[in-house]
Amino acid sequence: MSKYIIDGGHSLSGTITVDCAKNAYLPILAGTILCDGEVILKRPPRFTDVMNMCLILEKLGMKVTQENDALIINGSKANPRFVPVDIAKLLRSSIFTLGAMLGRFKQARVAYPGGCDIGLRPIDLHLKGLRDMGVIITESHGIINCDATKLHGGMVHLDFASVGATENLILTAVLGKEKTTILNCAREPEIVDLCNFLNKMGARIFGAGTGRIEIEPVKKLYGTEYTPIGDRIIAGTYLIAGAITHGEIEVCGCNTMFFSSLIDKLRYSGCVLKVKSDKIYLKSPKTLKSVGFVETQVYPGFPTDLQAQILTLQTVSEGSCVVQENIFESRFKFVPELIKMGAKVRARDCTAYIEGVDSLSGAEVYAKDLRGGASLVLAGLTAKGYTTVHDIYHIERGYSDLDLCLNSLGAKIRRED
Ligand code: UD1
Repeated sequence: MSKYIIDGGHSLSGTITVDCAKNAYLPILAGTILCDGEVILKRPPRFTDVMNMCLILEKLGMKVTQENDALIINGSKANPRFVPVDIAKLLRSSIFTLGAMLGRFKQARVAYPGGCDIGLRPIDLHLKGLRDMGVIITESHGIINCDATKLHGGMVHLDFASVGATENLILTAVLGKEKTTILNCAREPEIVDLCNFLNKMGARIFGAGTGRIEIEPVKKLYGTEYTPIGDRIIAGTYLIAGAITHGEIEVCGCNTMFFSSLIDKLRYSGCVLKVKSDKIYLKSPKTLKSVGFVETQVYPGFPTDLQAQILTLQTVSEGSCVVQENIFESRFKFVPELIKMGAKVRARDCTAYIEGVDSLSGAEVYAKDLRGGASLVLAGLTAKGYTTVHDIYHIERGYSDLDLCLNSLGAKIRRED
């Protein structure tokens, strides 16, 4: 198993540009299934989740090639093959093939998806929405069989503004027969990006980024070229890396409005920030101040995917802080690892209480999931001595060359296989 060995205590400085967003790239890759022509997706990030999604597309008969800095995806020979459990379990986003196959072929058969182990991750909202649209669904032995030959439009209300359910319903409805309106849908920037991509292929989707999305069906989508948005979670992770090492960095390539909730917290910590539309400069103070309280919420609230990173920053900030995780039920698995490094954190159910300490000390720690794993790297950057982060395959699902990127800013990280 690969690991990072981090020599802590080096201040970061310099400029870094983020990759395209994982959570935009994955549903967009699934969206290419809807097109029987050629789609060119620029700047593919080298995340294992993206590579695995390409594998899934190939299993469905799509041709995926990489040329220069683009993926060329040809869907002319795609067919609605079964997505078995050994593939579906590779990533949560395998579930997007359900909506996309239903959209194009009006039938789909997929196994339940995998993904980070951060609590129960049901897909009941996806399935209820599909049923509301006339899809007939039967489930047996963990396999979901869907028939959308009687797909109709109408109004679909989501009990919770689920990102994945919103995206799956959009993918299903784009090539339908009647107008579909999704109410209480998620408003995340990655959903807007998916809709922009689909609209560029000829779809007619209105209202993305609001709580009400309307989809007017079209008969066909056409090939296009598209560059997905920059990754706000990676941008946020780098900013916190700059803050936790008392550094001075500039992060480019992501719309800064997408992480305004983090910017607000970093200012409260005592960091100086200069914010432009797609780049941000941060200078961290000698002593960081605790932000007091953070709770995760749906966009534009504080993102659950930055919860582990902001909590880690609190472990070395002056004062005490409460972090409340409201989106996933089991997202503190990294906390016992932080405690091994000297952090003072007490996590119970979905609430963590943090008392800032002067410094962390290097230790052997284990990544348990993607963002929690990245937060252990952040802890290692500030800790005294050496930190070994094991099981970095979790981190590589959503960060490419995190070690080299941080080293380009002055970190001292060695990757060992
Ligand atoms: C997406 C992101 C993930 C992010 C999350 C919340 C992708 C590939 N992943 O995940 O990085 O952390 O949004 O911003 O975009 N839920 C149900 N039933 C459902 C669907 C969801 O109960 O059918 C619950 C989940 O268990 C969770 C909450 O709703 O508690 C949020 O889930 P959702 O918004 O669907 O997140 P994902 O799409 O899985």
